[in-house]
Amino acid sequence: MSATVLDNIGQLVTNSDGIGTGPVGTIENASVVYENGVIVEVGPAGLIGDERIDAEARCVLPGFVDSHTHLVFAGDRADEFTSRMAGRPYDGGGIRVTTAATRAASTDELVAATAARIEEAGRAGITTIEIKSGYGLNVVDEARVLEVASGFTPETTFMGAHLVPEEFVGRTDDYVDLVCGDMLSAAAPHARWIDAFCENGAFDADQSRAVLEAGRSAGLGLRLHGNQLGHGPGVMLAVELGCASVDHCTYMTDSDIEALAASDTVATYLPATDFSTRQPYPDARRAIDAGVSVAIATNCNPGSSYTTSMSLCVALAVRDMLMTIEEAVRAATVGGAKALGRNDVGRIEPGCRADMIVLDAPSYHHLVYRPGVPLVARTLTSAMS
Ligand code: NIG
Repeated sequence: MSATVLDNIGQLVTNSDGIGTGPVGTIENASVVYENGVIVEVGPAGLIGDERIDAEARCVLPGFVDSHTHLVFAGDRADEFTSRMAGRPYDGGGIRVTTAATRAASTDELVAATAARIEEAGRAGITTIEIKSGYGLNVVDEARVLEVASGFTPETTFMGAHLVPEEFVGRTDDYVDLVCGDMLSAAAPHARWIDAFCENGAFDADQSRAVLEAGRSAGLGLRLHGNQLGHGPGVMLAVELGCASVDHCTYMTDSDIEALAASDTVATYLPATDFSTRQPYPDARRAIDAGVSVAIATNCNPGSSYTTSMSLCVALAVRDMLMTIEEAVRAATVGGAKALGRNDVGRIEPGCRADMIVLDAPSYHHLVYRPGVPLVARTLTSAMS
């Protein structure tokens, strides 16, 4: 077996508790040795391998862990975005527009569109990605979307409870029965997780609970969309059910924060969504200071957040959500790993996957200092995980 050394790293961010110093475990002048896609040694520059990659004194950090996307879809909603920028509020109704386009697309078209987005995500430094369904909203198309997603990542999430489709409007409980029954049976073989959109206009707490409990009985892990468009029961429900993550969390009461802080549920922030929907940014400072575990993800989807830029999300989290640069970098890497229940990604230490990004910059601070600049010079990974 041959070992590769990534050498001459100017600044290495490890996120490790035992390696490096400071909140992100940095080492200056470092190298990392890996074999067969797994890190075997982290130390000073000059470690030996059969092959050598020169980082040219630049900054290296763990690949981004993007724990929330809806990457399999057809069509775009630029018109909706444009009218939003002219003042129309976001309400999630456009999900039905993407559902119509996705149902009409062939599987080959969905695979090709997803492959292009996965490549774009890789260029943006994403090495682990979660993909939700939610634009099929019937038995055949939810299963088809998840089958496409599982060709790209093991982190697939069944989200039949994204919105009630056109043909079930006014019959939400009947639709929930379908999601918990035939749709779940068809989707579960292709999914690791289940999710629901617990929000006014989508699914209420009882409907979301029914969906997640059915998913748990089918062997899926739980996640939830909550508190995106206003205060609501999502965060409390996620804590009650022991979800790995509750995502959005734009509106949180003191009780939501207290409950999250006392739980193992991660609050996953999606700042590019608040940017693209002109929502207020969540007060991450308040949650972190209370002891909440946080992650940051892109929420790449054609409606509320059409971006794969984790760097943009990190910059927004610092600029507008009052996180420190270190907190934001951790949230986009090891925070996302926790939201996915993974301990093999998000850190650079022996035993972890050799998923790393080389920045065209001397320090991770440049991710925020140089907003909008594509600083990822190279993404090292054997496959998207
Ligand atoms: O996470 N909030 C619900 N789902 C997506 C939006 C999907 C869409 O608008 O197409 C989200 O923002």
